[in-house]
Amino acid sequence: MVAIDASAAAIDLCKDAHANSGVDFRHGTLPEVAPEVEAGLDAIYCRFVLHAMPVEEEIALLESARELLGREGRLHVECRSINDPMARLGEVVSATERIHGHYRRFIVLDDLLARMEGAGLSAIHAEESAGLAVHGDEDPVVIRVVARRRHG
Ligand SMILES: C[S@@+](CC[C@H](N)C(=O)[O-])C[C@H]1O[C@@H](n2cnc3c(N)ncnc32)[C@H](O)[C@@H]1O
Repeated sequence: MVAIDASAAAIDLCKDAHANSGVDFRHGTLPEVAPEVEAGLDAIYCRFVLHAMPVEEEIALLESARELLGREGRLHVECRSINDPMARLGEVVSATERIHGHYRRFIVLDDLLARMEGAGLSAIHAEESAGLAVHGDEDPVVIRVVARRRHG
């Protein structure tokens, strides 16, 4: 299993905390790490990451995921929705982007599905709700999508 993050500090922390896990922790974005990963993956899990990057990086990630997935492979995404109350807090960067402690780009489900289609991925499951990622006293409105490579 390969686990990636664009933050070197986050990867160093994971390497220390999970030294004997057998997980191959890599610093970088998916397109940066992709050349070193054998394609044909069964699953790519992208948790609370899409809303941490600008849309250009999301598109590059989706295109890279499409290249890496096997024929029956699935991309699993969880991210903060534009309907999350946190999307109304902090400094406005754009209609979907805010700085509240740090940068977030809140995701519009239909827009994400359209970008997935543009990258050659088709959603087979999509939901948006609170209650999906409760953490302590936080209960964000979260989008979950499972997508597969589009064939033909
Ligand atoms: C909210 S944290 C989530 C971390 C972890 N995935 C989790 O579920 O706990 C968002 C993470 O996305 C990472 N990130 C932002 N842009 C990225 C990109 N283009 N590629 C990979 N990681 C990215 C940040 O470094 C940060 O660690």
